[in-house]
Amino acid sequence: MKTYDIAVIPGDGIGKEVVPVSLKVLDTIAEIHGGLKFNYTEFPWSCDYYLEHGKMMPEDGIQTLSNFNGIFLGAIGNPNVVADHISLWGLLIKIRRSFEQSINIRPAKYFKGLRSPLVNPNDFDLIVVRENSEGEYSEVGGRIHKGEDEIAIQNAVFTKKGTERAMKYAFELALQRRGHVTSATKSNGIFHSMPFWDDVFNETKQKYSDVQTSSYHIDALAAFFVTRPEIFDVIVASNLFGDILTDIGGAIMGSIGIAPAANINLNGKYPSMFEPVHGSAPDIYGQGIANPIGQIWTAKMMLDHFREAELGKKLLDVVEDVTNDGFKTPDIGGKMSTIEVADEICSRLQKTYSLS
Ligand code: NAD
Ligand code: IPM
Ligand code: MN
Repeated sequence: MKTYDIAVIPGDGIGKEVVPVSLKVLDTIAEIHGGLKFNYTEFPWSCDYYLEHGKMMPEDGIQTLSNFNGIFLGAIGNPNVVADHISLWGLLIKIRRSFEQSINIRPAKYFKGLRSPLVNPNDFDLIVVRENSEGEYSEVGGRIHKGEDEIAIQNAVFTKKGTERAMKYAFELALQRRGHVTSATKSNGIFHSMPFWDDVFNETKQKYSDVQTSSYHIDALAAFFVTRPEIFDVIVASNLFGDILTDIGGAIMGSIGIAPAANINLNGKYPSMFEPVHGSAPDIYGQGIANPIGQIWTAKMMLDHFREAELGKKLLDVVEDVTNDGFKTPDIGGKMSTIEVADEICSRLQKTYSLS
């Protein structure tokens, strides 16, 4: 029996709704496989935890998580009660940084049965490789002076190692796909960082003669995501550009509630973390209508990471069929609840694969 120990952090808001149903889906997958088991250990670390304990996780929280094969997280943030900079730096970003999860992989593709806002969704299938450890998300800067003279400074930090790592990952990924990498840049003379980014991109592409490349300024690229997403295969982007592009990726599929993500630790020293692109959605929390697909597809990415790609493919095929048959939450034009959609996915998985 192959056993994976998973740390589960539902977090805040709809994380608490979409994570439990996704664990049921993972258990169904394990049942179908027959030789696979997931052991879950749940941690209540969240804004509620902060209100009780004055911190987002215990002092030894990172140490505790380091013993797991993977971390499955919903979303963090309840800005009505805890300021986002406290909750995010205290938990989400802390995990990404402590475990050197330097790459964030975020796919978007045309999905059967989804109500894409694109007039012609054209079968797009792309993956954003988001640099996940530095760039615009640096701790360098601050607020100085007070009152009318107040100034806020945010320094972006791009290291050669960090940038090369993201580029290399993107090119290697492209070799397994359609062989094309697009760089998201903004090197028209405004920032110091982006001509540097371009240099590293151009150096890396010399080593990959089988990969075609393009480079677009992020503003134009964001527009192409909406008008011609089918031209993209792998896109390599800085932390902030990648963050913004991947919400658009969700939107062109039909809802940000569908978009999955994986924060990957590349050196194998620490666990990777699997959390969807979306946040805690306080505006719909408690109604039972959050779309579970983003979290379930994120579970598929965890299966891929554990080299159970065949199982992951089975799961995504079933999710797509269930969606196509009209089992949908309101964000994609349906009337079903989170639980109804997830239950249908579980029973369809059982029906489709239990006899094979
Ligand atoms: P959000 O992603 O939570 O919500 C944006 C919009 O998308 C909302 O209208 C919401 O209802 C909708 N939405 C999101 N997920 C959905 C789903 N699964 N099903 C249906 N609709 C869905 O972004 P926000 O409102 O900017 O942020 C809310 C909180 O979440 C903030 O505290 C923010 O910092 C945090 N956040 C956390 C993460 C994370 O933990 N990974 C990611 C993004 C935002
Ligand atoms: C994401 C989120 C986070 C990010 C926030 C909540 C810090 O938007 O995972 O996309 O910007 O990385
Ligand atoms: Mn985001």
